[in-house]
Amino acid sequence: MLRKVTLLAAALVLVGGPALAAAKVREPNEIAFSFEGPFGRYDQAQLQRGYKVYREVCSACHSMNLVAFRNLGDAGGPFFDPKYPNPNDNPVVKALAADTQIGDIDGETGDAIKRPGIPADKFPAPFANDAAAKASNGGVAPPDLSLIAKAREGGPAYIASLIAGFGTPPAGLTVPAGLNYNPYFPGDVSANWTGDHAHTPPGGFIAMAPPLTADQVTFDDGTKSTIKQQAEDVAAFLMWTAEPKMEERKHMGFSVLIFLILFSGLLYASYRRVWRDESH
Ligand code: HEC
Repeated sequence: MLRKVTLLAAALVLVGGPALAAAKVREPNEIAFSFEGPFGRYDQAQLQRGYKVYREVCSACHSMNLVAFRNLGDAGGPFFDPKYPNPNDNPVVKALAADTQIGDIDGETGDAIKRPGIPADKFPAPFANDAAAKASNGGVAPPDLSLIAKAREGGPAYIASLIAGFGTPPAGLTVPAGLNYNPYFPGDVSANWTGDHAHTPPGGFIAMAPPLTADQVTFDDGTKSTIKQQAEDVAAFLMWTAEPKMEERKHMGFSVLIFLILFSGLLYASYRRVWRDESH
């Protein structure tokens, strides 16, 4: 039995080894997000811009099933206002919800209707189901973005690099119809590469077309709307939706650490006191 397993493992290494070695991917860019490090915090203005990019661009294809409009007004959220501890009362949150049409059922007639959103509504999904999402996107359903920043290696830096990282494919690379070349997207393009195999381009083919163009979204705070800016802002927003309580977690970690240090001091002092008159 053990022998069989060892043989199988060896075979896997032999078969998988070269394939893995050929598939390279470009490392995400270094981005200095405000929320990095033990004291990092979300930049509220950036979260607001990121929400706008999601709403105006990404929400045409990507759902965010775990996020409700009221979350936008939660403490630490993009539109939190200390005047409105209950986000359902926050006028900005109310207006953003009301800007969106939500599918519902008329309570009297039973007909399917559309009505303006309220803070308690979840973000509406762009497609009725997975089949419809696939049909509109060349056979690949766009993933739900609620937790994507936690679900992908590299997190927000990967997302920002990916969506701003399309570009002209290198000469010698045949891009399959309906797909796009992206050096940051994990994959293997060697079968479509006619150049030198030692220099196969990194990355893979992705079913998402480049979603951003410069000035596509007008930022209310006057920030210049470059592709890079939009990409970083929406990536920060996606980090917040994936971990809305990050600030609380870091704060708690720090308090616990301080407590432990004080407690160790106290323990040591009482140890000295208890054994004061004993000879060892
Ligand atoms: C026209 C539709 C469309 C738009 C608009 C769009 N996407 Fe996508 N996106 C897709 C599809 C389709 C996929 C699946 C691609 C695949 O797996 O090949 C995808 C995949 C992704 C992924 C996952 C990549 C991975 O590692 O699997 C991320 C992250 C993403 N999109 C972010 C965004 C963001 C952020 C925006 C807005 C700036 C956006 N998308 C706009 C269609 C779209």
